[in-house]
Amino acid sequence: MKNFVWPLLIIFFLLGGLAAILIGEIVLPPEPRPETVEAISEKWIESGHADAESESFVHWDEEEVPEVPADCTKCHSGIGYLDFLGEDGTEPLSVDSAAKLGSVVSCFVCHNPTAHEKETAIYPSGAEISDLGQAANCVECHQGRTAGTTVDNATMSLPEDEVNTDLAFINVHYKVAGAVRFGSEVTVGYEYPGKTYGGFYPHVSDYQACTDCHDPHSLELTATECAACHPVVSSLDDLKKIRVGSTPDYDGDGNVTEGVYDEMMAVHEVLYSAIQSYAAETLDAPILYAQQFPYWFNDTNGNGEPDEGEVAFPNQFASWSPRLLKAAYNYHLVLEDPGGYMHNASYLVQVMYDSIENLSEQVTIDMSKLVRPE
Ligand code: HEC
Ligand code: HEC
Ligand code: HEC
Ligand code: HEC
Ligand code: HEC
Repeated sequence: MKNFVWPLLIIFFLLGGLAAILIGEIVLPPEPRPETVEAISEKWIESGHADAESESFVHWDEEEVPEVPADCTKCHSGIGYLDFLGEDGTEPLSVDSAAKLGSVVSCFVCHNPTAHEKETAIYPSGAEISDLGQAANCVECHQGRTAGTTVDNATMSLPEDEVNTDLAFINVHYKVAGAVRFGSEVTVGYEYPGKTYGGFYPHVSDYQACTDCHDPHSLELTATECAACHPVVSSLDDLKKIRVGSTPDYDGDGNVTEGVYDEMMAVHEVLYSAIQSYAAETLDAPILYAQQFPYWFNDTNGNGEPDEGEVAFPNQFASWSPRLLKAAYNYHLVLEDPGGYMHNASYLVQVMYDSIENLSEQVTIDMSKLVRPE
């Protein structure tokens, strides 16, 4: 072998190795790297959990005793959640005291030994769900404050169509995704006797738990991930267009390409008109709904629309019969989970369908085309 061949071979191998490294860098996906704490903090600071100015955290600022009452601290104060966990050395699973103002859902709320080990959660209905993994903390705060069983307890044995001034509207509370996900397993809706209801909506195995879809820090969804299986999605604005082929025409309008969101909200509209007809015709007490506490108002001029002066606290509706209270609870529930169309659309349609059917025992409602999910 000539002398110059060896150096050439060595250069050849070196170049080859270098090329392999370069190709590797370009072609192979990079290993997922843990996010930096800075990057996580930047995401979190933009999220609702960090928003110290939001109603969720300033609601008590002007009170005579400016503190978050013990009833409310578990979800409206980071300090309160640590108290609930028992991380502050007090008894676990109970809140022992009011909390000082201004404490948001900070890093330590989710990252402490008890929160990391937590697997189960108890719901307002008394139902206990285990094996929740990291979602256990999410569902503690996103489980609502009441359940279908609360409505049951309030109305039990009262005549269905008699106005009872002891009854008051029952509000499931806000952003109740953690309850809606589990449907009948936690009885988040008012469920009518003799009917069967769906439990947890499984979706698909890789997109099942809260943080499979929601970034745990920004809380946001990533449209491209959904688009992989739902081609209708090109941005977050398209999520409400998602529908799968097997979904029935719940609202019976013949359109089987609209998103499941629109199916669900059309049934919601039927429920509203059923509620209004029943209150006006059976109870002689016309009613209105508005997205303002306490949500239900007297429709004083009986025109069905919220007019000037009607949507006001002193004009709140107070002529509840058990039948009306049940339907109104389910109506409001649907609005208090903005992701309900994803979290468990079929369960929400089931409780709405049954509310409409129940009201139709008293008033005429055309529900011949509506489809109740299996
Ligand atoms: C200690 C209570 C608590 C825990 C734990 C908690 N949340 Fe929240 N969450 C809230 C409150 C309160 C709000 C409303 C914040 C606001 O109004 O600014 C909220 C808001 C949200 C929102 C609305 C988006 C936004 O930016 O406001 C999403 C989504 C959300 N949480 C998801 C989750 C997920 C997922 C988890 C678990 C990883 C979780 N939450 C854990 C209390 C909690
Ligand atoms: C199980 C957890 C939980 C408990 C307990 C709880 N809340 Fe909330 N609350 C939430 C969540 C989650 C929100 C969602 C905030 C939002 O809409 O951005 C919320 C929102 C609110 C809001 C804002 C509503 C709005 O229209 O934005 C008020 C007011 C409120 N809660 C009052 C209370 C009071 C008063 C108590 C105690 C008597 C209480 N909450 C107890 C979870 C809870
Ligand atoms: C509402 C609950 C919640 C809050 C608040 C929260 N985290 Fe997390 N964090 C999680 C969850 C859940 C995971 C696990 C995510 C996963 O494995 O997909 C996580 C993961 C992490 C990780 C590991 C990330 C990785 O890529 O492996 C770090 C570091 C972290 N969080 C830091 C923080 C910091 C810093 C803050 C405050 C700025 C914070 N977290 C606030 C729930 C939370
Ligand atoms: C398969 C994906 C998926 C899973 C799993 C999921 N969500 Fe959602 N979530 C959504 C979608 C989609 C929305 C609605 C977003 C929209 O329309 O902009 C939403 C909305 C929400 C909202 C309301 C956000 C707002 O801005 O008001 C909260 C709170 C929430 N989810 C919490 C949770 C919690 C807690 C869990 C676990 C128990 C969970 N989600 C599981 C997809 C998911
Ligand atoms: C790996 C594929 C896959 C991914 C990724 C995925 N989905 Fe799905 N999705 C499905 C399948 C399959 C169904 C039907 C499941 C069933 O109900 O039997 C479905 C059902 C749904 C439904 C209910 C549709 C209906 O007609 O009732 C919604 C809403 C939805 N997905 C939203 C999302 C969102 C939001 C994301 C992103 C966070 C997402 N999906 C990511 C496969 C996927």
